[in-house]
Amino acid sequence: MTCRKFYVSRCRLFSIFGSILILVILVVIVSMSVQHGDNTPTTTKGTTTNLKTIVIERCRDYIRTVPQMSSNNCDAIWEAFQNSFLGKDPCNVKVEDYDLFITTVQQDIPCNKSLFWSKTSQIAHDFAKATKCLMTLEDTLLGYMMDGLKWCGQQHSKELNYTSCPGWIECEFNPVRSFWRRASAHFAELACGNVLVMLNGSIDTPFNKQSIFGSVEIKRFDSEKINYISIRVIDSLQDRVSCNSMSLEDLGKILKNASLNFDCKDIDKSEVERCINDPIPYSCDCVNWK
Ligand SMILES: *[C@@H]1O[C@H](CO)[C@@H](O)[C@H](O)[C@H]1NC(C)=O
Ligand SMILES: *[C@@H]1O[C@H](CO)[C@@H](O)[C@H](O)[C@H]1NC(C)=O
Ligand SMILES: *[C@@H]1O[C@H](CO)[C@@H](O)[C@H](O)[C@H]1NC(C)=O
Ligand SMILES: *[C@@H]1O[C@H](CO)[C@@H](O)[C@H](O)[C@H]1NC(C)=O
Repeated sequence: MTCRKFYVSRCRLFSIFGSILILVILVVIVSMSVQHGDNTPTTTKGTTTNLKTIVIERCRDYIRTVPQMSSNNCDAIWEAFQNSFLGKDPCNVKVEDYDLFITTVQQDIPCNKSLFWSKTSQIAHDFAKATKCLMTLEDTLLGYMMDGLKWCGQQHSKELNYTSCPGWIECEFNPVRSFWRRASAHFAELACGNVLVMLNGSIDTPFNKQSIFGSVEIKRFDSEKINYISIRVIDSLQDRVSCNSMSLEDLGKILKNASLNFDCKDIDKSEVERCINDPIPYSCDCVNWK
């Protein structure tokens, strides 16, 4: 930028200001591209940018690494997924609207492999990932595809809305929440044999009736298929006995009434963390769950 004599000082000020502005914009762009790899969703208030590409790529990645899954068709899965909510009011997408989509995804969950969690997301997923001895919903194809994504459509249009989608609690029947409720119900219905549940002992109500676990999953557990439910309360303070709390008593009543066998045990968070850092591959035994 050249400055004419008379306006020299003001002009310099503008060009310095301009350079700083450009620098700031560059730093922001660079740090954003460092934070987000190619396949990680950027945060928006509306539908995740490149939703279709992300979902289809995740689907293909998954069925490539899990050979028994090769009968799945990722393009058909995407079609069924978008048909569940496109053209609908984003506050009126019912849980059942995903029924057809759920049936297009073919996956058997072996008995003794299901891990449920509530308010222990990080440690439960880290444990499943490190040991590979159990699967959370997010380790199944359905959960893996949609993990961390956001989406909604709009009435009278077959387009996704990239500008604005309702938040998780903004309205009950938003597309994302209804999906997770439907997928969680499905995952719980498939559970068989022995099941592990990780709850959080650092909070007042490790068992919350309003959570997905409390409101959806335990209602779908089938006592004909489930042999035993191990409730494990992960406590950050040693010697805490969350299993004796009122909240766990409530859970016990519900499980007993549903004829489900279970027990509860408090486990130190440090024990699970040690196991995550030094896992025995394909074995859960680095934590004394029994
Ligand atoms: C599940 O675990 C129980 C108890 O350890 C065992 O008897 C049963 O054979 C297991 N089932 C499968 C399918 O591995
Ligand atoms: C329990 O919840 C607290 C508060 O949300 C969280 O900081 C902590 O990491 C959770 N503990 C486990 C084991 O997930
Ligand atoms: C997206 O949703 C918002 C909020 O419901 C709405 O105002 C807007 O018209 C919708 N469509 C687009 C294309 O942004
Ligand atoms: C107990 O189980 C019956 C059916 O098995 C069910 O209708 C009822 O709602 C349950 N009660 C509680 C408190 O969960």
